[in-house]
Amino acid sequence: MRKKIAVLTGAGISAESGIKTFRDADGLWENHRIEDVATPEAFELNPLLVLDFYNQRRRQLLQCQPNSAHTALAMLEKDYDVTIITQNVDDLHERGGSTNIIHLHGQLLKSRSSKHEFPIYDQTTDIEIGDLCDKGTQLRPHIVWFGEAVPEIDRAIPVIQQCDILIVIGTSLMVYPAAGLVNYASYNAAKFLIDPHQLSLPCIPNLRFINATATEGMATLVTELL
Ligand code: OAD
Repeated sequence: MRKKIAVLTGAGISAESGIKTFRDADGLWENHRIEDVATPEAFELNPLLVLDFYNQRRRQLLQCQPNSAHTALAMLEKDYDVTIITQNVDDLHERGGSTNIIHLHGQLLKSRSSKHEFPIYDQTTDIEIGDLCDKGTQLRPHIVWFGEAVPEIDRAIPVIQQCDILIVIGTSLMVYPAAGLVNYASYNAAKFLIDPHQLSLPCIPNLRFINATATEGMATLVTELL
């Protein structure tokens, strides 16, 4: 039987593709405080600012390419059943070739009504004030903002519980419920954490810390696993 690999990724895996991580040294995310752009309250108060912020992120994403860490994860599908659980809203895992991806925090290239969770639309262009869903309400990015539910966590938990190997890449493990997922892995599962700066490691058994960037760390790991 093929072994199961669960992968939990955060902003660090896309850093080498040119997308800034959230908790950079200045405490700002692309010059904004997170609460000014990534909460439902911010959208209510200043929808133009929030739409504009995500429009810029979307335009930036369309200029970026997956890096060799994304493609190495796709290569693992040759020998393993791989499920990617990502906190990232980019589509670089998809473009890197992975086929089984759970987006915990939504997707930048999708939109939805600001009143209802469904339907979800493909969105490759800017969202403007006045762009409406089928039912006539303003569109918003399909992003899970702070304070909102994370429905995909229910699909992610069993994937972690059942995995033989857990790979965690480029996440500060500071945002819940995503950060708590690592605790669902079984005692015997082999666990790898790739990060060039991880300061406080999660306290889980059988964890090997690979102190490297995503591309360097995945180059090492893929030769061991394949
Ligand atoms: P963070 O910005 O909190 O953490 C990024 C992690 O990536 C840090 O541990 C860095 O050390 C590491 N890192 C930096 N460069 C790297 C590289 N080249 N290779 C590998 N790792 C590198 O990002 P997340 O943990 O993803 O949520 O943040 C979690 C959530 O908080 C995000 O999904 C987002 C944010 O607010 C929403 O927007 C809902």
